[in-house]
Amino acid sequence: MKNLRNEFFHRLLIDRGVKKGLRVLDVGCGLGDISIMAAELVGEAGEVVGFDISPEALAAAKKAVEEKCLSKVTFIQADIMELPKNLGVFDLIVGRRVLMYQNNAAQSIGHLLPFLSENGKMIFQESDGIAASFSSPMLPLHAKALNWIWSVVTKEGGNTHIGRQLYQEMKNAGLRISILRAEAILHTCESGSDLGWVAKMMAPRMFKHKVVRAEELEVETLELRLQEELQKSNIPFIRDMAFGICAEAGNGQDKQ
Ligand SMILES: C[S@@+](CC[C@H](N)C(=O)[O-])C[C@H]1O[C@@H](n2cnc3c(N)ncnc32)[C@H](O)[C@@H]1O
Repeated sequence: MKNLRNEFFHRLLIDRGVKKGLRVLDVGCGLGDISIMAAELVGEAGEVVGFDISPEALAAAKKAVEEKCLSKVTFIQADIMELPKNLGVFDLIVGRRVLMYQNNAAQSIGHLLPFLSENGKMIFQESDGIAASFSSPMLPLHAKALNWIWSVVTKEGGNTHIGRQLYQEMKNAGLRISILRAEAILHTCESGSDLGWVAKMMAPRMFKHKVVRAEELEVETLELRLQEELQKSNIPFIRDMAFGICAEAGNGQDKQ
């Protein structure tokens, strides 16, 4: 299966010219996907610091980094609003699907600005339910799975429309936008669907918020059933829209 989860962000990093030797901060690093991606690009001459509020996520991120034998990645437990002052400055600050959980995204970005070097850049990716869960004809299991996932995010106070608001939030934080992208994330029988993987990861939260019962989720076979649905239908399923923005400190109009 194509790496549906990471491809979009990887292209943003490449197009923004992320290269060896840079110092990168990964905001709300979760399981460490973006930290690892950045570490592979900045190499041994660079450095990546990932932070998250969740100790469980950090433990998984540390394990993933060890498995990849990446020595220049460290993780700390911290909240965006209370980062340790001695972190130093970074050439690049990145974050994926983390602003959606902040009450005031512009204010959160503002708290990161003191950690951005003079010519530093920020890259954020956020999702939006715009046109989501669309296929013609309808793929019922895909639609259900996506609905369970978004319902958890909503119940946890996440903003399901942060994607379309990202441009404004980053400008409100005083950033100058240099790349602005939105792409529909499509699932096809060739690409496969990552909904089963995400649902598996989120299953405990789905049960906690009573979004779906275990008997209906049938998590162990979900991935297979989603793949079968795609294969039988032979049509693409629009999962959601990914918004990606690269920006620099400073006001003014867009500059490529
Ligand atoms: C949807 S996950 C995304 C993880 C990762 N960025 C990725 O794309 O794979 C969101 C992560 O943000 C973290 N998070 C949410 N609010 C945070 C905050 N205020 N400070 C630090 N981390 C936060 C959560 O604990 C979670 O691990």
